[in-house]
Amino acid sequence: MLLGRRRSLCSLFGLSSDSMSLPRRRQIRTLALLFCVITFTTFLFSYTLRDPSLDFFKYASRLSDNLFFSSGGPCACRRRCMTEAEDDPWFAERFNRSVRPLMTRENSVLSDDTFKWWQWLQSERQPANFSEVVDQLFRVVPDEVQYVDAGPKRCRSCSVVGNSGNLKGAHYGGLIDSCDLVIRMNQAPTAGYEEDVGARTTHHVMYPESAVDLDNGTSLVLVPFKTLDLQWIISALTTGTITHTYTPVASRIKANKDKVLIYNPTFFKYVYESWLEGHGRYPSTGFLSLMLAVHICDEVTVFGFGADQYGNWHHYWEENTLSGAFRHTGVHDADHEYNVTLQLAEKHKIQLFRGR
Ligand code: C5P
Repeated sequence: MLLGRRRSLCSLFGLSSDSMSLPRRRQIRTLALLFCVITFTTFLFSYTLRDPSLDFFKYASRLSDNLFFSSGGPCACRRRCMTEAEDDPWFAERFNRSVRPLMTRENSVLSDDTFKWWQWLQSERQPANFSEVVDQLFRVVPDEVQYVDAGPKRCRSCSVVGNSGNLKGAHYGGLIDSCDLVIRMNQAPTAGYEEDVGARTTHHVMYPESAVDLDNGTSLVLVPFKTLDLQWIISALTTGTITHTYTPVASRIKANKDKVLIYNPTFFKYVYESWLEGHGRYPSTGFLSLMLAVHICDEVTVFGFGADQYGNWHHYWEENTLSGAFRHTGVHDADHEYNVTLQLAEKHKIQLFRGR
């Protein structure tokens, strides 16, 4: 049997073992072995070179993940899951599940590098003591680890709704509202725009200067750009003493304080470095919201990003303007952000609805 197999292997190379002397056969066997070793090593090298983040051991661990989840895949969604065992190398190089999108007391300690970068965003002159503010903060808002329940039993669908004017007349309302989580940001009105943008909001991402009142069922997701922003949310939910940052801000905000979430500065920096590769001064609220969804949802559908069909970058509640509000903020690289969003769509990580 073994001989038969050897023979057939040799016959693959067009040789007959019976017609050869013993030293010659040994020589051929050594050559064949050498050939196999070289082929295997070349395969490993080319695989690693193509995507350095995917070394052989990572590949093996992915394979074992695949086998582990073989009964149902990494999530319970029928179409696709955000993370697949055979992930696209471009995605795998950027995506890091271990950086937590939301802040808790435990992950609130920032590295020197992160703290410096974060403080530099809005150049706060005399920041209060960060850890003392964090301590106060988590006495007012929940200190809970959330959305770490990814697994074969979960299918969390999310819609992320940017504020682009391309939503006007798009009739996406029903589709947006049908997702488990509906994430909106900044001003984002829904009243009067329901047919195009939907009516539900489970998460509203904002910073002090863009804050709006929310209903009791919505989670306020604060993106802090400075220590004062953390002090502002404490104040806006309690005493109302802070009325000014670099511009006047709402002294109080209507929001359910038991549902407040804080965007993690470490995650903020990770989004800027890994996903935007340093383009722009810092990511836009829309891109930060999209990244939040990519990391806490299994299926992500995206609306209201990019220009409208005429190339205008205005908001859906505004009249068309040739300049466009979002593209000319000066701090974001709108084109680069949109390209990354397009890449995610091309790689079937998100579904992008481009509007009108
Ligand atoms: O303008 P604002 O920042 O409130 O809009 C929210 C987000 O929607 C932006 O950060 C951006 O990501 C996205 N947006 C867009 N195109 C527009 C307007 C907004 O992509 N024309």
